[in-house]
Amino acid sequence: MTRRKSHPRYKERRIGQHVLKPESQMMGYGYDPMLSEGAVKCPIFQTSTFVFESAEAGKKFFELAYGLREPGPGETPGLIYSRLNNPDTEILEDRLTLWDEAEAAAVFDSGMAAIATSLFTFVRPGDVLVHSDPLYGGTEFFLDHVLSDFGVTPIRFPAGVPLAGIDPELRTRIGGRRVGAVFIETPANPTNALVDIADVARFARSQASGDHRPVVMVDNTFLGPLWQHPLKHGADLVLYSATKFIGGHSDVIAGAALGRHDVVERVRRLRGFLGTLASPWTGWLLLRSLETLKMRMTAQMKNARYVADFLADHPKVAAMHYLGHIEKDHPMYATYRRQCLGAGSLVSFEIQGGEPAAFQFLNSLKLIHLAVSLGGTESLAEHPATMTHADLPADERERMGITPGMVRLSVGVEHYQDIIADLEQALEAVDSAGTEEKAAPRRAAPPETTPARAV
Ligand SMILES: Cc1ncc(COP(=O)(O)O)c(C=O)c1O
Repeated sequence: MTRRKSHPRYKERRIGQHVLKPESQMMGYGYDPMLSEGAVKCPIFQTSTFVFESAEAGKKFFELAYGLREPGPGETPGLIYSRLNNPDTEILEDRLTLWDEAEAAAVFDSGMAAIATSLFTFVRPGDVLVHSDPLYGGTEFFLDHVLSDFGVTPIRFPAGVPLAGIDPELRTRIGGRRVGAVFIETPANPTNALVDIADVARFARSQASGDHRPVVMVDNTFLGPLWQHPLKHGADLVLYSATKFIGGHSDVIAGAALGRHDVVERVRRLRGFLGTLASPWTGWLLLRSLETLKMRMTAQMKNARYVADFLADHPKVAAMHYLGHIEKDHPMYATYRRQCLGAGSLVSFEIQGGEPAAFQFLNSLKLIHLAVSLGGTESLAEHPATMTHADLPADERERMGITPGMVRLSVGVEHYQDIIADLEQALEAVDSAGTEEKAAPRRAAPPETTPARAV
């Protein structure tokens, strides 16, 4: 069996001179109904293995799969075995490339599988891995407790601080060792602190030696794939927990890595041996999710603006961490304007009264679910210090700004007035001792003005 071919009607990315936008291509790009009995939607190819038309065809497929030769003109990888490839995951990969304008994508059975497979592809024993902090707790754990056992030294730098200021100190800590990769998460989970991707790419170039240049990896889960495109700012690999916005319904675990052909091909090859490719069923679910991605992310972002404005004015809220509220004089404002196309829908905030107050608040929610994860259609709230980032030592957490009173809110697609009504009553339930009247409530621009620039 050869790889599915794109039907010309769907493959056409232009109508005359008019270039189709990604959201218009999410329903058909990369899929030929005529190869599947005319089915308008891609079926689930629930099969572990694929029949070869001939022994010669099988031989050719394996030559490409093992990288034994370069593909001939127009030659695409053949379907072999669902640990290596499958129509549902291949079509999903084709569609995912459109948002980030990537040459290639590889999908995984979790965000952590995408992260771990990518790091194992590029980092070697003896290397240094430079990374921003905070990172998602699972990634932090992987770097500190797994990669370090393989002889890789993680060296961290804080998100939210211009790299220029810490550059000399960072170089001293690297001490001339080979930097295998630079891994950043921007905005950072859960503080929404930004890292300037272009600055990091420049730094990575300065660490090149001989024919080695550190690979710049960006976890784009919080804003991507709509509101931030790291490849345009110098990243080599964009990573996703596709469990979040891409899946969007809190019913599937998946991941993705995107970038240039040569970079993704290396990741994809290791994926085949680690066995971290997503299943056909996961591929199919994500194809379905992609059809509504832009609508969902836009609705969530609009809701988040209303919610953040409400919280910022509330007397029991001590601090806000929301991209839409970054002030013009903040060191990260220029990065935000240059790098982000919108503020997204993650709102972290600190309740006065620390952990007891945060717990009272979380236990009082009625509409918003108390659960980790984010990016789904339903609003979710969690307590980073004791949940997603519980593994970090307390002093490290405090230094990163993950305080005992911090709550992370992923705003869903419900009516914003209902979300606010729930927040209001839950804040009401918090013991108000020690709260003060706020002097000047801050009103941000109305939601219609987000995103910062049109997409
Ligand atoms: C920013 C970020 N990256 C990666 C991951 C890991 O993704 P997954 O749970 O799909 O393995 C998460 C999960 O919460 C996350 O928030």
